[in-house]
Amino acid sequence: MESQLESLRSRMMSEISSASGLEELETIQVRYLGRKGSLTSLIRGLGALSEKEKPRIGRLANETKQSVQRALREREQELKKKLSGSRLQDGLFDVTLPGQRPRVGHRHPVTLTLEEIIGVFAALGFSLEMGPEVETEYYNFDALNIPADHPARDMQDTLYLNSGLVLRTHTSPVQIRVMEKKRPPIRMICAGKVYRADTADASHLPMFHQIEGLMVDREVSFTDLKGILNLFVIRYFGPRVKTRFRASFFPFTEPSAEVDISCLVCQGKGCQVCGGSGWLEILGAGMVDPEVFKAVGYDSWKYAGFAFGMGIERITMLRHGINDIRLFVENDMRFLRQF
Ligand code: DAH
Repeated sequence: MESQLESLRSRMMSEISSASGLEELETIQVRYLGRKGSLTSLIRGLGALSEKEKPRIGRLANETKQSVQRALREREQELKKKLSGSRLQDGLFDVTLPGQRPRVGHRHPVTLTLEEIIGVFAALGFSLEMGPEVETEYYNFDALNIPADHPARDMQDTLYLNSGLVLRTHTSPVQIRVMEKKRPPIRMICAGKVYRADTADASHLPMFHQIEGLMVDREVSFTDLKGILNLFVIRYFGPRVKTRFRASFFPFTEPSAEVDISCLVCQGKGCQVCGGSGWLEILGAGMVDPEVFKAVGYDSWKYAGFAFGMGIERITMLRHGINDIRLFVENDMRFLRQF
């Protein structure tokens, strides 16, 4: 038995040290140490030995097994090292090549505009408010003095849900929610998604983003509205851009205005982009209508306020010269990477 063990050991050792690859090493291991391996079956046969022989031979067998296992592990390390060394020497790896840089994403252009505009108004002391995208007809229309027969309430324009709920068609209902909760002075903006029953084309999407602004205090005037919106235009579009207030109508403001900026392409001379007028419309605004104050229980003899609302996609398109609003939702990386 002893000599059998010894000869097995020396055979294995020489095979291990001459093994030239990891696969060969594995075959050796299976041949001797596997379930049916020769060393394994030898050890299994120890049971037949006499009680006197058993401990001595048993210890010897264990030592043999351990020493071979160690030799296997050492040879494996050696072979691995050799392999990687030779692949380097063979030039399979060029260690001087730059690594693969993971592509880092960034915020969507609409988010970038939102954050920039929020920043401009935050610096002027406006707080950022939120409101639900599923609104009641009351907040979306009635409280804003939009009568039941107003065209905006048509099924063609508004996405109705069950039981008096709508997807908000503008961010103006947030004005009502904030005024119901707080007393003046109020200086707030709100940013978020709005929905309209429109088919997507170059200038319409059924979902887009708006920013709403509201300021209410004892002595707020149209002058304040002009001053603040002028400042916003200069901050967002640049110092040479001019602003124009044009009389308009919204049910929730009186008087109301539409605000234009001088055309960014022709600087006001008149071109294709501005339809020859020299001006581009950017938002709606006005002094809060007394009917709106009535809906939230404010005394319109005591308080005055202005409000404005604008489309974020539109503003972004004007600033960057983008001619199709659908680009914002198509996930085309060639477009998105430019921001
Ligand atoms: N809610 C209007 C819209 O979606 C935009 C607007 C106009 C908001 C005038 C206002 C405002 O707050 O005073 O077209």
